Amino acid sequence: MPHQRMTRLGYGTLKDENSKQLLNMSEFLLKFMPNLIVYEERKVKAKGLNSENKVNEEKLKEYFFEEDYQRLSLLDNLPKITLNTSSITLLYPGCGVDLFTPLIYLDKLFLQVTEAKLIFVDENQDLGLLKTLLDEVGVSFEEKKNILRFYWEEKLISLEFQEGEISQLLPEFPPFNLYFEKAFRIMREHIPDYEKDILNKLSVGGVIISDTGFENADLESFNAPKELSTYGEMIIGRKKK
Ligand SMILES: C[S@@+](CC[C@H](N)C(=O)[O-])C[C@H]1O[C@@H](n2cnc3c(N)ncnc32)[C@H](O)[C@@H]1O
Repeated sequence: MPHQRMTRLGYGTLKDENSKQLLNMSEFLLKFMPNLIVYEERKVKAKGLNSENKVNEEKLKEYFFEEDYQRLSLLDNLPKITLNTSSITLLYPGCGVDLFTPLIYLDKLFLQVTEAKLIFVDENQDLGLLKTLLDEVGVSFEEKKNILRFYWEEKLISLEFQEGEISQLLPEFPPFNLYFEKAFRIMREHIPDYEKDILNKLSVGGVIISDTGFENADLESFNAPKELSTYGEMIIGRKKK
């Protein structure tokens, strides 16, 4: 970042001493650190379910670094995955505000799925930001407490956000047929028996999608390209028994 004189004027407001422009924090970050993706929560109204929703792809791309978004097209060359039901449950621990990646995986790989319950877990309360993100890409939703329902590329999604620590919440969850993990490697290293507990809760025939680990699990591999993981360890595999 070039040397820049800024004056802090009050909570969240800065003055660029060169241009005398007033900037709020996200304007500041975008102006001087253009490679950052800035998430800013807005108050968003639940406008209800709309099966005609079209996802605004240009807006969607703004929430990815260009090379990461392009890398997702590697999924187009993978075989499509079928599960033994068209109505599935997916668990995503340490989701943060990463709403779009699991939705893109669902859209590209699980063509037969028509309804998905997504259980998103994070120690931080991210529900407000998730609502903002849906609104940003033009997807309207219905809201009941911590559950958002919306259509994503014709799949009916019911997203339940659970604030808390995954090892404490996991025993309470129903079994799931899909486990999704991204950028959670360091955090889950501290959780004893993490993979074993996840595999126990995953239904037989269910699928693990993770950018790390599970190399010793008894999974039928779908040979996912390793470039899909920033750690170079991508696994997409089905639980055999
Ligand atoms: C590096 S971020 C990754 C976020 C998201 N998966 C992504 O790819 O952008 C890790 C997230 O895990 C959450 N986290 C860390 N430890 C956790 C735990 N034990 N249980 C639940 N969430 C946790 C953090 O709050 C943070 O949002």
